[in-house]
Amino acid sequence: MKTVRLPSGEIVPALGQGTWFVGETASRRSEEIATIQAGIDLGLSLIDTAEMYGEGQSECLLGEALGGRRDKVFLVSKVYPHNASLSNVLTSCERSLKRLKTDRIDLYLLHWRGSIPLGETIRGFEHLQAAGKIRHWGVSNFDPSDMDELIACGGKAVATDQVLYNPLRRGVEWDLLPWCARRSIPVMAYSPLEQGRLFKVRPFVDLAHSLAITPAQLALAWVLRRNGILAVAKAACRRHVEDNARALEFHLTAEVEAAMDQLFPPPASASALEML
Ligand SMILES: NC(=O)c1ccc[n+]([C@@H]2O[C@H](COP(=O)([O-])OP(=O)(O)OC[C@H]3O[C@@H](n4cnc5c(N)ncnc54)[C@H](OP(=O)(O)O)[C@@H]3O)[C@@H](O)[C@H]2O)c1
Repeated sequence: MKTVRLPSGEIVPALGQGTWFVGETASRRSEEIATIQAGIDLGLSLIDTAEMYGEGQSECLLGEALGGRRDKVFLVSKVYPHNASLSNVLTSCERSLKRLKTDRIDLYLLHWRGSIPLGETIRGFEHLQAAGKIRHWGVSNFDPSDMDELIACGGKAVATDQVLYNPLRRGVEWDLLPWCARRSIPVMAYSPLEQGRLFKVRPFVDLAHSLAITPAQLALAWVLRRNGILAVAKAACRRHVEDNARALEFHLTAEVEAAMDQLFPPPASASALEML
């Protein structure tokens, strides 16, 4: 499994599992739990959730899925911006821990930027760290100017910025990826499969098939082609998670990268950070 080094020096798997919309449909529950467990056993042991997902239902399902596997997992959750004040972040985290049936979150992110001053949220994260409730903290959906402000507010310990990144969403290559690379801050790509919409791009699907891999594998191998990038892909069935786990066996050559650039040109200028 390819790995990424966090600023703390800790090594985590580059490819993990997402859980948006997981845990919201009773009839799918047992398959979703089995899929997450299979993913962990295949090495996709970084798992991303948020208090927002199903208003806690995703965290509850994960709490059930982790069971005896908690110590094998690097668990990421996120606080809503409106819960990111000094006092609310502490109670939000406690609620997440309870739903996740664990005593600590490995990486706790501010889901997107809201109106609470960043310095106050950082103080909340530091309280949680000191209490052993979270091990690392980071942000999501921050553009380079948000990151500048974060650092200026005392946020040098930020462990990652989780942002939308896939072949259809290359805007971050212009500024955010270089900004983070210069400071050795890993970027975590969310929706690396564009929620399945990538699979409707016929020439992309044809390119994957010409390489004897699946479109999901090509997308994941492409997103993870550079150092310092992590990705979380959501799969709700065993076939998909097994497929995704094999993505890292594929070596993306310069020729394939050039073919991807033809299909999905890199950015030629700055653009606003895209979010889903
Ligand atoms: N920070 C943020 O603001 C933010 C925003 C969005 C997402 N996220 C995180 O990022 C995670 C991933 O993003 P996402 O859920 O939006 O979308 P995604 O991972 O890009 O795509 C998920 C979709 O792709 C399908 N899929 C997965 N593996 C496949 C395979 N091997 N072959 C064919 N189809 C496959 C899934 O189908 P099945 O479900 O049927 O398997 C699902 O429909 C989320 O779950 C969440 O944890 C964070």
